Amino acid sequence: MIKKIGLITGGGDSPGINAAIRAIVVKATQEGYEVLGIRCGWRGLIEDDLVKLELKDVEGIINTGGTIIGTSRTNPFKIEGGEKAILRTIKKHGIDAIIAIGGDDTLRVTHKLNSIGVPAVGVPQTIDNDLCGTDYCIGFDSAVCIVTDAIDRLQTTAASHGRIIVVEVMGRDAGWLTLIPGIAGAANIILVPEDTYDYQNIVDRIEERMRRGKNSAIIAVAEGSTPNEVKTQISETYDVDAFGHIRLGGIAELLAEELEKRTKLEIRSMNLGHLQRGGNPSPMDRYYSTRLGLKAVELIKEKKFDMMASVQGQEISATPLEAATCEVKKLSTELIEISKIFG
Ligand code: F6P
Repeated sequence: MIKKIGLITGGGDSPGINAAIRAIVVKATQEGYEVLGIRCGWRGLIEDDLVKLELKDVEGIINTGGTIIGTSRTNPFKIEGGEKAILRTIKKHGIDAIIAIGGDDTLRVTHKLNSIGVPAVGVPQTIDNDLCGTDYCIGFDSAVCIVTDAIDRLQTTAASHGRIIVVEVMGRDAGWLTLIPGIAGAANIILVPEDTYDYQNIVDRIEERMRRGKNSAIIAVAEGSTPNEVKTQISETYDVDAFGHIRLGGIAELLAEELEKRTKLEIRSMNLGHLQRGGNPSPMDRYYSTRLGLKAVELIKEKKFDMMASVQGQEISATPLEAATCEVKKLSTELIEISKIFG
């Protein structure tokens, strides 16, 4: 019988997590379950850093950004003794099941927990929106609003000065967060990890635009996209995190330099960085977070472990964690073609 749920938020944060935490605590309390918040991702489970979450703790948080229990990119299976420490903490506190809110790294760990006998379910959360088996990941809509607003603002200054501005958007392996705001903000060139491009191809598109009498352009580029001339994704440090990912950043600057060499145009670049993950969640994020959080508790009640709450069309459903994390949800060729219609 389920009595105690451990709740964890892992990986990069995003707006909407607190709304999901609220929904989980409210629903779990109604079902008679106790909720223990695990602090700072999987690190909290290794270091036995837990906090009881009650109704009073989740009042007034639906519209707040970040995560009230903290997060980290700790990978418990990469730390010596990590697995043992986790099992010890779970036993010590009598945790019967875990709900993990996060992206592919966090949910892969969640899947692995099931395989070592810890019942666990997941909630999809990443501004990259790249988990399979769900149409939507918590944080995506808020980030889309932020990036669209940034492109709108860059449009007016680029037009006033007659400049090209290259704006770098988060998105490691998928271009959802570049393409949708790119279309919404009328970016002239949209570059995503799923597509190939080379410097000359971008120059041709800019020059074609200039021939049509335009003297400015916005290029929206995903941090994980790579020009054909470059062999690896761009990073300033090539530092690797506990899940083996390099810290991406610098593609906009590189493109601006290369394009300036190849054209006589004035080019600027900017990286939107962590602004994209900060601040209050949009109404859609609050809504989906609430629905997904409720679904996660339902999955636990029904003992449907190793599953992820998911959005499928208008329905809130469930997807096996393995299917959700075994590959990246990529943009379709059709969407990429649509993004090239408006130059
Ligand atoms: O959470 C996913 C993500 O937003 C990626 O798009 C990005 O590469 C990464 O997080 C940045 O992570 P960090 O906050 O660790 O720098």
